[in-house]
Amino acid sequence: MTASTSTPPITSQTIPVATPATSPGGLIDVPAGLAGVRAADTALGDVRGSEGFYHYRQYSAIDLARTRTLEDVWFLQFEGHLPDSAELVDFRAQIDELRDLPPQLADMLPALATAGSSSAMLPRLRTALSMLASIEGSRPVYGARPEDRRRDAMRVAAVTPTLLAGIYRLRRGESPLAPRPGLSAAAQWLYLLTGQEPESRDPRDVSAIDQYLVCTVDHGFNASTFTARVVTSTGADVASAVCSAIGAFSGPLHGGAPDRALAALDDIGSPDRAEEWVRARVTSGERIMGFGHAVYRTDDPRAALLRGIAQERGGRLAEFATEVEKTVIRVLAELKPGRSLNTNVEFWAVVVMEQAGLARDLFTPTFTVSRVIGWTANVLEQAQDSKIIRPSARYTGLPAPQPVPELDQVSAA
Ligand SMILES: CC(C)(COP(=O)(O)OP(=O)(O)OC[C@H]1O[C@@H](n2cnc3c(N)ncnc32)[C@H](O)[C@@H]1OP(=O)(O)O)[C@@H](O)C(=O)NCCC(=O)NCCS
Repeated sequence: MTASTSTPPITSQTIPVATPATSPGGLIDVPAGLAGVRAADTALGDVRGSEGFYHYRQYSAIDLARTRTLEDVWFLQFEGHLPDSAELVDFRAQIDELRDLPPQLADMLPALATAGSSSAMLPRLRTALSMLASIEGSRPVYGARPEDRRRDAMRVAAVTPTLLAGIYRLRRGESPLAPRPGLSAAAQWLYLLTGQEPESRDPRDVSAIDQYLVCTVDHGFNASTFTARVVTSTGADVASAVCSAIGAFSGPLHGGAPDRALAALDDIGSPDRAEEWVRARVTSGERIMGFGHAVYRTDDPRAALLRGIAQERGGRLAEFATEVEKTVIRVLAELKPGRSLNTNVEFWAVVVMEQAGLARDLFTPTFTVSRVIGWTANVLEQAQDSKIIRPSARYTGLPAPQPVPELDQVSAA
């Protein structure tokens, strides 16, 4: 089975070239950070920042979050179409088969989970996935059969929640739990973390986490997705691409710290302190976590979805967040006129996760459980193209070539 049966294969010839501002040597200059540069073709989805809209394949991601499960969307991104009920049963069985850890990795996990004092989970996940790849002999995508690539991608995406939950529990002095076949992906994640059967918890927990997971599967050519595609373009194996993506994702400017938005709410403490708190931070040049976005100039559609979920569920935190959000947007509009700074996905995600009973050190891991599906879908798509991604840089050092000096004769000039 190929990664996508409904879309034509992508080749380097189909990639449009950036509007050229050619410099000597025939090189093309592009904006800093590659902003606004199209670096690949993709049928997986897109973000339309000015419209406040993003989609997975041809469907609104928000509509999918409201109406479909994470497994439906996983299938959509891997196979190119939404599953019918028979396909879904088969796909769920495939996922269940791929969730367990190999015994060798299960034996090593306690040492990996508890080594050192850092509470960061992503470096431990990276290490565990590297071990998995070594134990199971992950194949380079270059030259691999499409069905083998797909199997490796499914394996990495399916085992990630088992690894993260195992690491989390071991760090708390608890034993990891074996995945329970038959659970939905969202229910499985909550079960692996807590051991609580889905039937015994508030059904709103599973529904809210499922919607959160669906709406965070993918989001355009962000830094971690691009990283996964660069590594894939070298022909490396799926686990290498995902480990590299996790490294990019761990940065605070990307996926690294959704809990900072909750820390801001904690710090504000009560709605009457919000105005003074925000003004003090923004005037001293700080950024308010959970607000602003690199692409959206409107409400982030993910924030709108999660706001609705959080407010429907209600409670003190949701009410407090509603008041704080209004104040922050008003003060940002006044202090940063013309910037159009709105709430982003992180602000309401933390409220939804807190309502579902997830501890704050699980916010980033939960994001990773869904995003690994996006990364692996991108790996499968990128693997269809044999062109290595290899841009150039502008050299800004001393003029070259200079004569190579003898030892100890290096001039300071
Ligand atoms: C997401 C983010 C990195 C986008 O940054 P960006 O693309 O450089 O932002 P913009 O170009 O839209 O805006 C830049 C201006 O708005 C200000 N700004 C942007 N986000 C801000 C925020 N959250 N709080 C205060 N000011 C902010 C910047 O300081 C800058 O002001 P200046 O020109 O006076 O120096 C940025 O909004 C941010 O740091 N937000 C907080 C962190 C966060 O929530 N990240 C999760 C994103 S999903």
